[in-house]
Amino acid sequence: MARQIITGIRLAAMTAGGVPYGLVEDAAVAVEDGRIAFAGERAALPQGWSDAPGQDFGGRLATPAFVDCHTHIVHGGHRAREFEMRLQGASYEEVARAGGGIVSTVSATRELSEDALVAGALPRLDALIAEGVATVEIKSGYGLTVADELKMLRAARRLGLLRPVRVKTTYLAAHALPPEYKGQANAYIDDVVLPGMDAAHEEGLVDAVDGFCEGIAFSPDEMARVFDHADKLGLPVKLHAEQLSNLGGARLAASHGALSADHLEYLDEDGVAAMARAGSVAVLLPGAFYTLRETQLPPVDALRRAGVPIAVATDCNPGSSPLASLLLTLNMACTLFRLTPEEALAGATREAARALGLAGEIGTIEPGKRAELAIWDVEHPAELAYRIGFNPLHRRIVGDAA
Ligand code: NIG
Ligand code: FE
Repeated sequence: MARQIITGIRLAAMTAGGVPYGLVEDAAVAVEDGRIAFAGERAALPQGWSDAPGQDFGGRLATPAFVDCHTHIVHGGHRAREFEMRLQGASYEEVARAGGGIVSTVSATRELSEDALVAGALPRLDALIAEGVATVEIKSGYGLTVADELKMLRAARRLGLLRPVRVKTTYLAAHALPPEYKGQANAYIDDVVLPGMDAAHEEGLVDAVDGFCEGIAFSPDEMARVFDHADKLGLPVKLHAEQLSNLGGARLAASHGALSADHLEYLDEDGVAAMARAGSVAVLLPGAFYTLRETQLPPVDALRRAGVPIAVATDCNPGSSPLASLLLTLNMACTLFRLTPEEALAGATREAARALGLAGEIGTIEPGKRAELAIWDVEHPAELAYRIGFNPLHRRIVGDAA
């Protein structure tokens, strides 16, 4: 049995409800076969561990390894030209209606082989890993044919074999209406979204089903058809909701017991209450808010009051959030959305794990969970959200591969 003790750490265990950050000075973590057997004060280490091989980290800070719970890192091309257009005054919606936006990334993604998609995504994945990420969610949604959606999901799964990272894949064929189905959303759902979901599920490529509920994408009624099908297959759902307007998407997602609703700038009290009842996580995406120069803030106070768990993620994508840094995301979540550094850090660990249905496995450092830690050259956990453009990661520990 592989046993190991990690000592010489200040532990930010990120367990809920106790001291801030779940902070323990002079801590030890005992690991057995990749799972945490003990985490707490070194002096309280149970008997029998003193002879286990150990690693001393010289007083550095240990947190749960990061979880990026909302990304689109598999895609073709880039949208720097659109960035220029927006700087000349065009809005995200105007660019999308002019044939740019998501649909232009669809053309670029359809042109690439699975190998080329993997090669293109690796530098983005490596940037995330370099900042302590050990779990990343990757969406499809730029293929929009059955074959191209499957190609994206296969590429996403391969990334998890090429790097020491857990990949959770999300089926997002209901991301945009491809030009060949203009004005025919229901036909697109019948011909592509539902059969593609069956095919991807049959191949074991789907961990969750997502959609984009918005005026430029799918209506709540259309999304309900997609979610009904996911329910039949037993797949959990999540939704890009209330990003540009309030269509009641979060309420719809909550009515299907969604793992999360994401973006949420235009979420109202009704939507907050529905999410609280369903236990859905609010995934805030400050990179998209920043890139689109959005001014409507997500209702953070209402989410707090209702006890809705709040996660943060990069939303790494070529259009609305070309951001491959979860550390910068923490900073933006605090500066733009006024999250506390503790909320932001919980949002990239404990609550991000919950948004992926992994709350029992990762996201905090406590007995029974996987031993996935990030060791940082910082003194206080608030430093992780406070600095801009600085990466203090010393080491990632992922299971037995310390
Ligand atoms: O999460 N909101 C819709 N989907 C993506 C944007 C994707 C794109 O613009 O390519 C998002 O922001
Ligand atoms: Fe997104």
